[in-house]
Amino acid sequence: MSSLPSELNARVAAVAGIDPELRAATKPQFGHFQSNVALRLAKAEGKPPREVAQRIIDELDVSDLCEPLEVAGPGFINFRLRNDVLARTAQALLTDPRVGIAAATDPQRVVIDYSAPNVAKQMHVGHLRTTIIGDCFNRVLRATGNTVIAQNHIGDWGTQFGMLIEQILDEQLDVATLDLAAADALYKRAAARFKTDEEFATRARARVGIFQGGDEQSLAIWRQLLEISKQGFNSAYARLNVLLTDDDLAGESTYNDDLAAVCDELEASGVGVIDDGALCVFVDGFDAPLIVRKRDGGYGYATTDLAAIRRRVRELHVDRMIYVTDARQSGHFRQVFAAARKAGWLPDGIRAEHIGYGMVLGEDNKPLKSRDGSAAKLVDLLDAAEQNAAPDIALAAIKYADLSSGLQKDYVFDPERMTKTQGDTGPYLQYAHSRCCSILREAESRGHAVGPIEVLDEPAEQQLAMSLSRFGEVVDELAENLQPHKLCTYLFELATGFSVFYEKCPVLKSEDPVRASRLGLVQATRDVLARGLDLLGIVAPERM
Ligand code: ARG
Repeated sequence: MSSLPSELNARVAAVAGIDPELRAATKPQFGHFQSNVALRLAKAEGKPPREVAQRIIDELDVSDLCEPLEVAGPGFINFRLRNDVLARTAQALLTDPRVGIAAATDPQRVVIDYSAPNVAKQMHVGHLRTTIIGDCFNRVLRATGNTVIAQNHIGDWGTQFGMLIEQILDEQLDVATLDLAAADALYKRAAARFKTDEEFATRARARVGIFQGGDEQSLAIWRQLLEISKQGFNSAYARLNVLLTDDDLAGESTYNDDLAAVCDELEASGVGVIDDGALCVFVDGFDAPLIVRKRDGGYGYATTDLAAIRRRVRELHVDRMIYVTDARQSGHFRQVFAAARKAGWLPDGIRAEHIGYGMVLGEDNKPLKSRDGSAAKLVDLLDAAEQNAAPDIALAAIKYADLSSGLQKDYVFDPERMTKTQGDTGPYLQYAHSRCCSILREAESRGHAVGPIEVLDEPAEQQLAMSLSRFGEVVDELAENLQPHKLCTYLFELATGFSVFYEKCPVLKSEDPVRASRLGLVQATRDVLARGLDLLGIVAPERM
């Protein structure tokens, strides 16, 4: 849904022929927006800017939205939205169960591939980011009316199982008694031995073939490892309050039976060529080819990803695929997408996007590490944040910190700053929401009417109404561009605008109809904050 400001911008553009770049007016006496479009056009037209401004005003019919337009200074055009229009828009939002979020006119089937931790390893800080970001995309794309198919592409196959199984057999471990942390420790023991013990390494390599060839004893161990890993992942998901369930699991092993066919099709079409014994796909712009089958006949990470694309297009009938992993995998995905297009598995009309995110840094500006030098564990981060705040608030702090700067950027994990209820933080937004709730509770106890929103004489009321009217558009843009920080910025501005409004405009101390109208603004603000936070995966408590 387009907001009042963008509707206005579009109408002026139609007359001016260029983007008028409407900007918020710097002072209330200039109205709500200003444009320098006439100043920019004047040169080319060889006319004085004020004259150009006047011509645009004469040709423009926006009387249904604005007060009569004015030329100001050297040739600016000032726009003031009509109070009744602003009020009507805010009132419509107040009574709209979708709070201004329009359902997509062309709903899509969207795969979001995110989280994807690895079996027998604890989730680390990188998995925290993909899980939070993917969860946000999931919520936003659902909210805008699309069908979301979450795909948790866990690392449940591959060569690491050779050494894991050998280590378990050597230690005569009963896998069923392990939890994920213990499995992680086992993994580290196996990996250390693999490096130093040649005899063990040889056995481990041989075990890969035995296991992947369908050996029942190996598979039984693998299944148990998978089971305890899933339990560990699920408890992390529960703690993170994200939407993922076992139904979304589609790990690497899902594609085992497709891998040979993937290679056969590539060879048959000539898209895959044998190079030095390996089956390769050469794509323009890359130094090395994509290796689809190694010389020894083994398949790799890329093979599975090609199989997944092929399946998602053929069987899940997707229109769009979004992959959320750390930015270092961007080359991998560019190459895999290009290879899939070349193979005809990813038709032009289907979008495939890799959203790569930056690293989480410690206060020393270096990647966050746990004590043993490996990447920090997700649970340790949650624990650290909970040192500073209650679980709901700590989680809001982490999620907001993760989503509120450009995803590609690294950010510093600073639990003390992130959990503050002041400044650009998740808890600040939760706090603004709980403040709206407490005003509304008080109004209810006194029997005051909430709405209709019909009197907007104060600039702070008008600004708030204007912010509210932009929500649907911000969400639409997020569904398209996948930049959660813009929603964060929007919500922060809304909360700040609410603060100004509440300071300047008495609510409970006014008389109707002003009080009812202001209470309506409070409720609309509460609704937009609650919905906006929900789209970020953040709960909005009613009291704090
Ligand atoms: N398991 C991988 C990792 O931990 C991420 C998998 C991402 N998804 C995919 N389709 N490749 O880095």
